[in-house]
Amino acid sequence: MGNRRMARAVAPVLGIETSCDETASAVVDSDGRVLAELVLSQEREHALFGGVVPEIAARAHLRYLPNQVRDVMARAGVRFGDLAGVAASAGPGLIGGLIVGSQMAKGIALAQGLPYFAINHLEAHALTARLPGLVEGGAPFPYLLLLMSGGHCLCVAVEGVGRHVRLGGTVDDAAGEAFDKVAKLLGLGWPGGPALERLAAQGNPARHALPRPMLGRPGCDFSFSGLKTAVAQIVAPLGSGALAETDAADIAASFQRAVADVMADRAIHAMQMMRARDPKAGLLVVAGGVAANAAIRAALQQAAGAEGFRMVAPPVRLCTDNAVMVAWAAVERLKLGLIDDLAFAPRPRWPLEALVASDASP
Ligand code: KG4
Ligand code: ZN
Repeated sequence: MGNRRMARAVAPVLGIETSCDETASAVVDSDGRVLAELVLSQEREHALFGGVVPEIAARAHLRYLPNQVRDVMARAGVRFGDLAGVAASAGPGLIGGLIVGSQMAKGIALAQGLPYFAINHLEAHALTARLPGLVEGGAPFPYLLLLMSGGHCLCVAVEGVGRHVRLGGTVDDAAGEAFDKVAKLLGLGWPGGPALERLAAQGNPARHALPRPMLGRPGCDFSFSGLKTAVAQIVAPLGSGALAETDAADIAASFQRAVADVMADRAIHAMQMMRARDPKAGLLVVAGGVAANAAIRAALQQAAGAEGFRMVAPPVRLCTDNAVMVAWAAVERLKLGLIDDLAFAPRPRWPLEALVASDASP
């Protein structure tokens, strides 16, 4: 034990993630080694309602988090007093959950006299690629992040810690939200993305000529609500009962193909915008639950190849909501002396651009 402690370069950071429906904690040291990580999905709690219910999420975080934090510290073999800091996602996200995680982090920081970090959840996704060992040769700034999850869909120029520029994003639904809504129309459970992908594998993607919203438009904004409506119009005449398996599979495949086409087109525009900002830029990082989709990954891979970019996707457990990314973002911030005040109030809305300014003013 003593030797293990000695071997640690610098004390680790505890990270907490409660911004949506994952209760997660992780202990990560300053070299990016994950000493322990736990993620508890609340999928079961919300599936009944076909989506995340904020009040249920907040109560579930409150129920799970204290034991989980104790557990993750024990697994890491770290005492609270040995930590270099405590971090929690402080936004954007559902306010109830953000309060639960932030109060827990602040309580530990206050009791132990440790630095506290109010981590922007989007920045945590953005900096994940810099975890040592994840991207061959590291992920030096700047790089392009394409974040596609249930709540977010945006392209970001990641130019430094606290230095991010949103190049574009969805004007209506997030990509995962579109998958979930179409899955619902097809009678699949929630969250629908993985089930829709499985169904699409048996379908004919050429059966339905669905729209490709935003395709070819300047910039890298996205839109998915028209696509969802187009699917609804195909489903409606097929009757109110369960769809025939082949009909559902063809719709799923056609929808997935349309999303993949749009994603690839938008990513190409984003890469060009990125290169215009910095000719040296050549890395595309994809993250968020939708990045687990093989058809979308393949389309993005091809787009990256065409633009001379290298595409990397962190492993799915680091791509979806997790606390390793929160702890790692805090490690990056700690190295720069960017510590937050305990008075920091969680922010349901917290755009990436506000980061530098919010750090500068207490
Ligand atoms: O990043 P994530 O786990 O959580 C947040 O939304 O923050 O993303 C979940 C979203 C859901 O909308 C889910 O349906 C979608 O990602 N998703 C997928 C796949 N796996 C998860 N969408 C398409 N294909 C998948 N294989
Ligand atoms: Zn997220």
